[in-house]
Amino acid sequence: MTRTPFIAGNWKMNNTPAETRELINELLPQITPAPCRVALCVPFVNITAAAGLLKDTGILLGAQNLHMQDKGAFTGEISAPMLRDCGVACVIIGHSERRQYFAETDETVNLKAKKALEYGLVPIVCVGESLDEREKNETDKIVSSQIRAAFSGITAVQAQKITIAYEPIWAIGTGRTATAEEANRVCGLIRAEIAAIYGNDTAQNILIQYGGSMNAQNCDELMAQPEIDGGLIGGASLKAEDFARIVNFE
Ligand code: PGA
Repeated sequence: MTRTPFIAGNWKMNNTPAETRELINELLPQITPAPCRVALCVPFVNITAAAGLLKDTGILLGAQNLHMQDKGAFTGEISAPMLRDCGVACVIIGHSERRQYFAETDETVNLKAKKALEYGLVPIVCVGESLDEREKNETDKIVSSQIRAAFSGITAVQAQKITIAYEPIWAIGTGRTATAEEANRVCGLIRAEIAAIYGNDTAQNILIQYGGSMNAQNCDELMAQPEIDGGLIGGASLKAEDFARIVNFE
């Protein structure tokens, strides 16, 4: 496999700027030089604090959302050029919490991914089924249609810059992880969907992360799967020791 593994921490709505400095200072000696591609996706107000500490470390700075317009009357929103100017390299798009609580749709995910690409930000596009959909045997159908919608109007060259995160909703923050085999199967299905749209070369180059209760105990088994190229880590990214263990997966 020639794909470089990519581990991203999703801090969600956690840590003040002071706590951000504390956590990053504890983390850095344990994850640099980085053994793989690593990003910390922090809350907007912590971006400046994180940028100062991550500069020249090789660890990428990430955000958790962006708006699909460049600027304008969108009170409370943050744009791609703002993120870019603050040193942000990647941005999570369409996390299930944003789809669930903030009315994000496949269409907004697609617009946001295009905007991120336009400004040279790496989109981490999240897809995944709910428990109800899984129990109705709709996982493959749901994930495929989310992928089709997210990549609509995106060229093959652009598509390779996108990282996909497969995050079954029922596994997020629940301590209930998909089995490594099942996570691998769905990541493989996503890769097949990308191959169907763009061809096999693009599919072989694109990075697919697994997310959902990935932790220091199960990371090795998940990362050993051939279709899983990385992880999007929520809870375990808030503890330096646990996140460092995942970054240094074996
Ligand atoms: P979790 O969150 O690791 O706490 O399950 C993952 C995510 O929501 O990205």
